[in-house]
Amino acid sequence: MTSDKIQLTEEDITGIKADAIVNAANNSLLGGGGVDGAIHRAAGPELLAQCRGLGGCPTGEARITKGYNLPAAWVIHTVGPVWRGGTQGEPELLARCYRSCFSLVREYGLKTIAFPAISTGVYGYPKEEASRIAVREARRALAENKELTAILFVCFNSATRLAYQKALADD
Ligand code: APR
Repeated sequence: MTSDKIQLTEEDITGIKADAIVNAANNSLLGGGGVDGAIHRAAGPELLAQCRGLGGCPTGEARITKGYNLPAAWVIHTVGPVWRGGTQGEPELLARCYRSCFSLVREYGLKTIAFPAISTGVYGYPKEEASRIAVREARRALAENKELTAILFVCFNSATRLAYQKALADD
């Protein structure tokens, strides 16, 4: 069963010791608020220095950097879609964020990855739909990549945790 490899927690992602934690970044990759701000604060200034050299990241794509002062060895930065009502390709772009992250997991031979609830904060994506996309893509990644041993969804509030619990229950 792939679902026992998917875990759910409510905590600060910067404390998670996974092979990689995912950052919900913006197209500049130069930091911001929310989880982006927290990850940069915890990783230290070397993270921003490395990000400066990446030349940004289009929405739906992902870039990998070292984790520096974070417990995680790697940070995978992905840029989710801003919610504009759901008719501007947001679902497909959000799904592409997860697939882009899982492609880097495979490329770097990583076994564990932790995701925040991409796009559901500042970018306004509804939690219910976003968590369903996240869970669907996680199950697909586990079926396709036998090296992957754990996917952790890290929620930062109870509303998000409830959305993920429901998405995980809707097999
Ligand atoms: N650990 C885990 N999750 C967190 C943390 C944290 N330390 N801080 C915030 N979150 C959660 C939020 O509660 C939300 O559920 O991450 C989720 C994503 O919210 P945002 O961080 O606002 O990201 P997003 O909605 O994708 O917007 C991205 O916000 O911070 C800027 O630079 C970023 O412009 C970009 C935009």
